[in-house]
Amino acid sequence: MAATRTIIDDYRRLHPGSQHLYEEALHSFPSGVTHDIRYTTPFPIFIDRARGSRKWDVDGNEYVDYVMGHGALFLGHAHPLITQAVVDQAQKGTHYGANHRLELEWGQRVRELVPSAKEVRFTSSGTEATLMAVRLARAYTGRDKLLKFDHHFHGWQDYVVGSRAAESDSPQSAGVPASTLGNTISIPQGDVSLVEDALAKGEFAAVILEPTGASWGTVPLRVDFLKGLRDLTSWHNTVLIFDEVVTGFRVSPGGVQGRFGVTPDLTTLAKILAGGLPGGAVAGKTDILSMLAFREDPAWNAGHRVAHPGTFNANPLSAAAGSTMLAQVVTGNPHQHADTLNERLVNDLNYVLQRMGTPGRVYGLASYFHIVLGKDCPVERDGIEWPADGPPPPRMPSALTAVLKRGMLNHGVDLMGGNGGFTSGVHTQKDVAETVEAFEDTVGEMRVEGIV
Ligand SMILES: Cc1ncc(COP(=O)(O)O)c(C=O)c1O
Repeated sequence: MAATRTIIDDYRRLHPGSQHLYEEALHSFPSGVTHDIRYTTPFPIFIDRARGSRKWDVDGNEYVDYVMGHGALFLGHAHPLITQAVVDQAQKGTHYGANHRLELEWGQRVRELVPSAKEVRFTSSGTEATLMAVRLARAYTGRDKLLKFDHHFHGWQDYVVGSRAAESDSPQSAGVPASTLGNTISIPQGDVSLVEDALAKGEFAAVILEPTGASWGTVPLRVDFLKGLRDLTSWHNTVLIFDEVVTGFRVSPGGVQGRFGVTPDLTTLAKILAGGLPGGAVAGKTDILSMLAFREDPAWNAGHRVAHPGTFNANPLSAAAGSTMLAQVVTGNPHQHADTLNERLVNDLNYVLQRMGTPGRVYGLASYFHIVLGKDCPVERDGIEWPADGPPPPRMPSALTAVLKRGMLNHGVDLMGGNGGFTSGVHTQKDVAETVEAFEDTVGEMRVEGIV
């Protein structure tokens, strides 16, 4: 009897060009990658070009893409309006080392869309945005401590990697000074009384969270919790920071705060904000943002103001792409399209699991989805999907995620991180149908291999 071909055999067979490039990449980059999430065994794929909802690798394989620029490409790859705006701007100069009209337009659009955004400061990434938000909160309150929630991701800067002790099941990085870790306290999400206990002594400058739950809603949060946080932080004069780097402009044109009506003091933004180019922002209350403002007081400027240079802040290319993106966001049309397709995708993938009798759950919100295989986790709708009985959906073990990622790639679908993704304003019914077929084939192969 011929030996059964495994998912990993197929992966190697279909991607020789990627394997070759990966072997070269190993000479230049640690583990051959330039972003942790792209690290995958036996090697990651190398992409050659992309358009709309699709991308093609160096071996000529075509994929329905749900990575969508890590969530930045709400209008898909190479959208004509954004491409044109960037090309036009590139011809007029990419950096003026000075103020320009486009940054003004970009900032005004953020203020129009995001309820908390009375003023805005642009940064070059989401990581820089959370760095700035925490620093502003510290300067504004005169306190050092930051409260965050286990497994909530806020970029890779020192303040937000959390305390290893509190997140012992998922340490996020070595190399952070103990003194910094000591000021960042991480607690489980969802329990208002834990927050109340933590804030009781009045030591915290800020509470930061991903407002739909850890890891862009992988572990969903109830809206009630957001309301509880709003009340508690106001009571304790602690700055409430919604990290809407993923959810901003996606969960609604005004993000989570626009959809659920809970307004934070500060909001961090990136991804969709910059239309697929690099860029981030902190937006929020005027009295907090004014910690960045110069005064006619040398003592204030030298010692009390929050300093913020940054070569590529609001650079003209990002401003052109971002402003063009937000002009589409304001219509709400991409949301209607992406959310409808996402709902169909979630339902159809769940139907596949049900039909095959495979334990698991696909769930999501607006235009993002997550997949858990191997365990059932019922959900109900309460604005944000939430498990009806007991703890939040389990995070899928990374070994299972890697196999799902490889299997789906073999069948022409690229998932974000291997167990979820983003739909966009340009995904199609055909994309969904092909994805459902790919999922059925992949889960079938995983079952043959005894993986699920
Ligand atoms: C919620 C959240 N905050 C912050 C960041 C960091 O953003 P960036 O990758 O632009 O530095 C990310 C990145 O994925 C994110 O998901």
